[in-house]
Amino acid sequence: MVSTSLPGGTWTLGDLPVTRFGYGAMQLAGPWVMGPPADHGGALAVLRAAAELGISHIDTSEAYGPHVTNQLIREALHPYPDSLHIVTKVGANRDQQGGWPPARDPESLRRSVHENLETLGLDVLDLVNLRLGDAAGPQPGSVAEAFETLVGLQQQGLIRHLGVSNATPEQVAEAQAIAPIVCVQNMYNLAHRQDDELIDALAEQGIAYVPFFPLGGFSPLQSSVLSTVAARLDAAPMSVALAWLLQRSPNILLIPGTSSATHLHENIAGAALSLSDDDLAELDKIGR
Ligand SMILES: NC(=O)c1ccc[n+]([C@@H]2O[C@H](COP(=O)([O-])OP(=O)(O)OC[C@H]3O[C@@H](n4cnc5c(N)ncnc54)[C@H](OP(=O)(O)O)[C@@H]3O)[C@@H](O)[C@H]2O)c1
Repeated sequence: MVSTSLPGGTWTLGDLPVTRFGYGAMQLAGPWVMGPPADHGGALAVLRAAAELGISHIDTSEAYGPHVTNQLIREALHPYPDSLHIVTKVGANRDQQGGWPPARDPESLRRSVHENLETLGLDVLDLVNLRLGDAAGPQPGSVAEAFETLVGLQQQGLIRHLGVSNATPEQVAEAQAIAPIVCVQNMYNLAHRQDDELIDALAEQGIAYVPFFPLGGFSPLQSSVLSTVAARLDAAPMSVALAWLLQRSPNILLIPGTSSATHLHENIAGAALSLSDDDLAELDKIGR
């Protein structure tokens, strides 16, 4: 049963009903997403709180830690309720410096899918995003070999649904010409609106758009317009940023990250904020 009490209601990812308000687990690993968290029990508590609050869509990756975030999810929530869907991604490794070198050759992708199955304790991954580009953002280039490798693993029954991440619109179209995708996960927030057209095109096709860094990621969103609107509504800027995303388009799913159960509660309450047309018009100026 999918909770309908969370802000934004629900969405169907392929055939998987999920709450539009999800949870991004990346922040649970150690500093700069390397190593274990300082507060292991606190990380487990955040994951359990997310599930208890009815969140049915958790975003992760084997690269977070590496291994750490997946292991925490398994420790906190396995055996998973049928209603909980864990979305992972493949296509990047970690190096000694904490960098994210691409790993999109067929052998690396196959290994990564099997590692995700192992660390999450699953027989089938609900949704796997192929992470493209690099730390600077999407980069042009064919996705065919990498995406076809994942399609092969899907045909073997190891993956239910596929998506792409950090992708250009051309790469989204190239992947779609090979096999159906159910989501695109790219960087997008009030201040980074480069995917406006892509979001609208995906909405018309019934495909989800899942913005990463919805709150600005490692550099929290800062804008005088955002602060002004938030002050007028007596709300936190983070709340306004999340509510704006939910109101921006019905195919947007939220995966805000936090290592704090208090922030998780604040974000759920804040995302329910109703923004007026005037608020939206004012906020619209930020990313234009
Ligand atoms: N596909 C990709 O390439 C890619 C890249 C990056 C991220 N992602 C995914 O996207 C998810 C979201 O991104 P993100 O977590 O990096 O960035 P984010 O959601 O934009 O921001 C997370 C940051 O905001 C803080 N925060 C959250 N709620 C807050 C509140 N109410 N008050 C004050 N601070 C608050 C968190 O700190 P606290 O921990 O203190 O709350 C954390 O530092 C990740 O978890 C990951 O699953 C995907």
